Amino acid sequence: MEEVLDVIKERRSIRDLKDEDLSKEQVTTILEAARWAPSGSNIQAWRIYVVKGGKLESIKKFSPGLLSDPPVIFVICIDEEEAENKGGKLSREVLSRMDVSIAAQNICLQASSMGLGTCYIGSFNETAVKEILELPENYKPELILTLGKPEKIPNPPPRKNLEQLTRWVGWDDE
Ligand SMILES: Cc1cc2nc3c(=O)[nH]c(=O)nc-3n(C[C@H](O)[C@H](O)[C@H](O)COP(=O)(O)O)c2cc1C
Repeated sequence: MEEVLDVIKERRSIRDLKDEDLSKEQVTTILEAARWAPSGSNIQAWRIYVVKGGKLESIKKFSPGLLSDPPVIFVICIDEEEAENKGGKLSREVLSRMDVSIAAQNICLQASSMGLGTCYIGSFNETAVKEILELPENYKPELILTLGKPEKIPNPPPRKNLEQLTRWVGWDDE
């Protein structure tokens, strides 16, 4: 079994995908990883639309950030009504978005560990996606993830070093 840190480091944003379909079983395993993500007050206000075919093509037309031709996309939405009713304004405006990010990263890591590629798509027209998927009024499409078999895995883009990213507080040697 791969170490978690190895899976984290090996995950890449994959924009070059094979023209191959994925099985429902594969996708379901990936969704199970999302299901076990933590969420604020355990509200789990996100809903994942697993989209392929004509609706995917339509969404692509309204998603400047979607540069590949994935067989499947996940459109992760927030049920804002559930978030608000169960956790108030903080949940609707802040925590539910964090929850989406965490579920999304679980998806990306699970997919990567199965040899599949994902890419976060933040650049899309929310109103258009809502219309195409005929989402209920209280659903907000928050994030799109692509999923497919990688054709090419790019080199890792650079990361800031830990000194730039972290501050150690209250440690004896600082
Ligand atoms: C919130 C978010 C939004 C992103 N939106 C897009 C996007 O619209 N299109 C795209 O091709 N990549 C998008 N990316 C992918 C980033 O460009 C990528 O994660 C970053 O360059 C680091 O590369 P890596 O994921 O391979 O480590 C997004 C990533 C995040 C976390």
